[in-house]
Amino acid sequence: MVDDVAPAVLNVAEKCYDLPTLKGTLGPDVVDVRQLYGEADIFTYDPSFGSTASCESKITYIDGDKGILLHRGYPIDELAKKSNFLEVAYLLLYGDLPTASEYAAFECNITYHTMLHAQFDRFFEGFRRDAHPMGVLTGTIGALSAFYPDSIDVSDPKQREISTHRLIAKMPTIAARAFKYWSGQPFISPRNNLTYAENFLRMCFAVPAEDYVSNPVLTRAMDRIFILHADHEQNASTSTVRMSGSSGANPFACIAAGIACLWGPAHGGANEEALNMLKEIGTVDRIPEYVQGVKDRKYRLMGFGHRVYKNYDPRAKVMQETAHEVLDELGKHDEPLLKVAMELEKIALHDDYFVERKLYPNVDFYSGITLSAMGFPPEMFTVLFALARTVGWVAQWREMIEDPHRRIARPRQLYTGETQRAYTPIEERG
Ligand code: CMC
Repeated sequence: MVDDVAPAVLNVAEKCYDLPTLKGTLGPDVVDVRQLYGEADIFTYDPSFGSTASCESKITYIDGDKGILLHRGYPIDELAKKSNFLEVAYLLLYGDLPTASEYAAFECNITYHTMLHAQFDRFFEGFRRDAHPMGVLTGTIGALSAFYPDSIDVSDPKQREISTHRLIAKMPTIAARAFKYWSGQPFISPRNNLTYAENFLRMCFAVPAEDYVSNPVLTRAMDRIFILHADHEQNASTSTVRMSGSSGANPFACIAAGIACLWGPAHGGANEEALNMLKEIGTVDRIPEYVQGVKDRKYRLMGFGHRVYKNYDPRAKVMQETAHEVLDELGKHDEPLLKVAMELEKIALHDDYFVERKLYPNVDFYSGITLSAMGFPPEMFTVLFALARTVGWVAQWREMIEDPHRRIARPRQLYTGETQRAYTPIEERG
């Protein structure tokens, strides 16, 4: 962070304040308002953080106008094509791509933390038989902090490292158990000879009566979906994780908070909603009527639009290719929902309503079709997003904890309620 840029000048009540302007390596300069309240007795107002940089970070960069997403400087499409999820996880966590020996050690650490204590399975039994897997995930990840009290001291770098490994390794096992519990099937244990994605697919789809036969195209698609969801700068759930962690809360509790935030339909829940929307439209001839409903503001086009991207989401491009690969492999290229999605995208990209508002497909538009073809029910879509995003959440949480200037996050407000008034006894109230 360089601060040799000319300061911004703020004029308040005929007094001038010089505000330092900071320059990052990429992206807009930021005006540093940290001392403003102390000096000028004034707050800045930005309720949904549209113009606020909430932290300094070296992990992920997004240029929303150009549709660029970089992890530690590497473009997402290049990572999706050339890398794998665990390598991307290493990159996000430690800043550089691993050497062969670093990668082997990291993979081994993750692989040998995938099992859950047998007692942990009892948590699942407390949930209703048909509990939504996201509700189960939120509860059980939070419960990890009760289960591993030895790794919750956030001031100890060794404990931070072990909880990092535990979270990334156990997330697929817990996510698969949430799925199995929901489907009424017995849990399947992890296997150490399988890759991260392959192991997860097996834990989801094997049954005691029949083992899962790996398909390289589907394994690659799963891994790519994980890469595409691994991190995304200071989105709502990541900011939730950082904010929770700023109090010194343990990482399992912070990730559980992130999962809860991700569940909302405007965020990670959109993939489930996008597939439901495509099903509701059903056939290509019903698209114009549906689009009219969007313009009449009856509902939103799910899987479209983004707070930061005002161009095609670069993850959506890779996701679209992956959708085609999976559907071709499974002989489902005539899948009616894919036809509806492609036609809807074509119409929306040329329609003034969407063009004027710069609404483009986001990562969730094609992920539902792909995951559904792979055998996942919509209830699992956000769970898969959470599984992958755990890596980003943990990387961002570590960066926040390691920041020597860390203070508890404590926003202020523009108060518009009653001014001070005297208490009236109940018998005197009219
Ligand atoms: N369909 C129809 N109109 C939309 C949509 C949409 N999906 N998204 C935004 N708009 C319109 C909105 O009505 C508004 O129009 P106007 O200016 O005439 O009032 C304008 O575009 C700006 O909308 P906004 O609500 O101010 O935009 P935002 O930046 O606050 O919202 C968003 C971003 C992602 C919540 C929103 O685009 C949305 O609800 N999209 C659908 C849900 C979705 O797909 N979410 C996944 C995001 S990507 C995965 C992730 O990171 O979680």
